[in-house]
Amino acid sequence: MNRDTICVQGGYTPGNGEPRQIPIIQSTTFKYATSEDMGKLFDLEADGYFYSRLQNPTCDMVAKKICELEGGTAAMLTSSGQAANFFALFNICEAGDHIVASSTIYGGTFNLISVTMAKMGITATFVDPLCTEEELNAAFRPNTKVVFGETIANPALTVLDIEKFAKAAHAHGVPLMVDNTFPTPVNCRPFEWGADIVTHSTTKYMDGHGAVLGGAIVDGGKFDWMAHADKFPGLCTPDDSYHGITYAERFGKEGAFITKATAQLMRDFGSMQSPMNAYMLNLGLESLHVRMQRHCANGMAVAQFLENHPKVAYVNYCGLESSPYHALAQKYLPNGSCGVVSFGLAGGRQAASTFMKELKLAAIETHVADARTCCLNPASSTHRQMNDEQLAAAGVPAELVRMSCGLESAEDLIADIAQALDKV
Ligand SMILES: Cc1ncc(COP(=O)(O)O)c(C=O)c1O
Repeated sequence: MNRDTICVQGGYTPGNGEPRQIPIIQSTTFKYATSEDMGKLFDLEADGYFYSRLQNPTCDMVAKKICELEGGTAAMLTSSGQAANFFALFNICEAGDHIVASSTIYGGTFNLISVTMAKMGITATFVDPLCTEEELNAAFRPNTKVVFGETIANPALTVLDIEKFAKAAHAHGVPLMVDNTFPTPVNCRPFEWGADIVTHSTTKYMDGHGAVLGGAIVDGGKFDWMAHADKFPGLCTPDDSYHGITYAERFGKEGAFITKATAQLMRDFGSMQSPMNAYMLNLGLESLHVRMQRHCANGMAVAQFLENHPKVAYVNYCGLESSPYHALAQKYLPNGSCGVVSFGLAGGRQAASTFMKELKLAAIETHVADARTCCLNPASSTHRQMNDEQLAAAGVPAELVRMSCGLESAEDLIADIAQALDKV
């Protein structure tokens, strides 16, 4: 099916007389007639549900839709995008392992990898997304287990050369994990370019209304864990905490990664999305393909206006021909990128602050990618844990304003920006 149709109808096909909308199974637990029936579920020998901390039917219907949209083989929801990235990384990395990651990734994920996972004994090397193949290959170590990047980075808006990163990852026998939050599968499907695992903060465009936190992990089903069994003992040797199951043997390339993350990590960490949130996420997904078109059109109109304004020093938007990422965007995002534009005012940090205060339509929020336009100075909020050097490396200088263009009229948005710039 076309992605537009999957957005509307994917993941759930009601039978005769069943609800047209996905049912909200608001139940922590599920009833069985015999202990043997339940035992088969615990042994992963039968499909079914026993406790919503691990799996819930409503969440699975929505995960299935996201899986179909990405063209993957298995998927799961998580309670947030942070949980999705942590689970996806921790599913194959343990103490003593190493991650290669793009330096421009979202500040929360940068913090997760460089500080919190470092406390767990997992180290990382960050590389410039525009690095050469030689520089990228030099970042690998014998204990590297995964390469991580964002299709479009938040808020630096760099575009990942997915094929380049996939080639390097595969040459070193490890998977490429891509956070595809900003373009969504409507505008880019990383699996088609060689990525192995895709993650999402569904809190962003997928929900699209600023209503529900959530995340998703999708497996492309192509990475051969068993061919690199020495690197991935968690997937390729028996799991003593789960009746000695060897996930890669039992569930193959298509299912091992998500089964392990569900049966082991969700069991132990319990960050499942609530069924109600999954239901609301699905409402957002039903119009994702239509909304993305407007977000992208508004982003482009605002970027073009800002680029020609004398008080604006620079604009980051890969849709602009002046962007160093324009060629990559033409390749990976031919139908549009996202509605997020970032820019610096000629007057620096103070000018950014005045500008943001004067905006009437765009609210100051720690958020992006919902129906209402919002803006933020990352250096004083989401990225405030970084020093100036790290901010520069992450492509987030102190004066940067990130504006997430919503679904309003472009004319009204530009008029609001123009009047605020006049006051700077
Ligand atoms: C690209 C990206 N990944 C992950 C996250 C974390 O997602 P959440 O806020 O849903 O935990 C964010 C949040 O802004 C993000 O922009």
